[in-house]
Amino acid sequence: MKKIISLSALSIFLFLVAGCGEKPTPELTEQIKNGLRTDAKQFMESLKTVLVKEMQTNGIVSAVSVCSDTAQILTNNYGVNKGIYIKRVSFKYRNTNNKPDEVEAKALKYFEELKSSGKLSETTEYYDVVDIDGIKNVRYLKPIIVQAPCLGCHGAVENIGPDVKSILNNKYPDDKATGYQMDDLRGAVSIQKTL
Ligand code: HEC
Repeated sequence: MKKIISLSALSIFLFLVAGCGEKPTPELTEQIKNGLRTDAKQFMESLKTVLVKEMQTNGIVSAVSVCSDTAQILTNNYGVNKGIYIKRVSFKYRNTNNKPDEVEAKALKYFEELKSSGKLSETTEYYDVVDIDGIKNVRYLKPIIVQAPCLGCHGAVENIGPDVKSILNNKYPDDKATGYQMDDLRGAVSIQKTL
């Protein structure tokens, strides 16, 4: 009896050792997904906080430059140091840096389809795992919806104040990011991270 137990203990041990030797393909675990959700949420919240605070203290005109600089700085900070990149993308981009790549375009199309069939919800998100130079990376996108405070800079052109309009024209001569209404799909937060 003792022998049987130790034999089976040995085989379990061997099984574990053999298992450790193999390099498992990285998996998109629930833990990783939750991390991505938190990253996207915190990024959008920090942007919105800076934006709203600036609009309240110094007005919308001042908020234009704060918003654009902060967006790019936040994006770069998250990106380089943490081995991840996080940014905002849109088909109708204001800054050409925010033009979607192939994966992002696929996700935005998917969000648009959901939106037009009334199925886009709070929990909508998009995942993909891509191979970059032999390394598996997760791509994660989360929709961004237009709310009331956005309209002063992204609403109908005739409703955007002349001062804001002139800054936008100067800084973004090819601005595509106007003409939006409340609840429109504005774009998405996009994260890429090694698995
Ligand atoms: C004070 C003006 C202002 C307000 C208000 C504003 N934005 Fe923007 N938004 C900008 C500017 C400027 C950019 C370009 C940022 C850059 O250079 O990356 C931008 C860019 C974006 C982008 C990135 C895609 C693109 O067009 O380049 C998204 C998405 C976006 N805004 C969403 C929103 C949402 C959602 C709100 C409301 C919660 C909002 N914005 C409110 C000025 C504003």
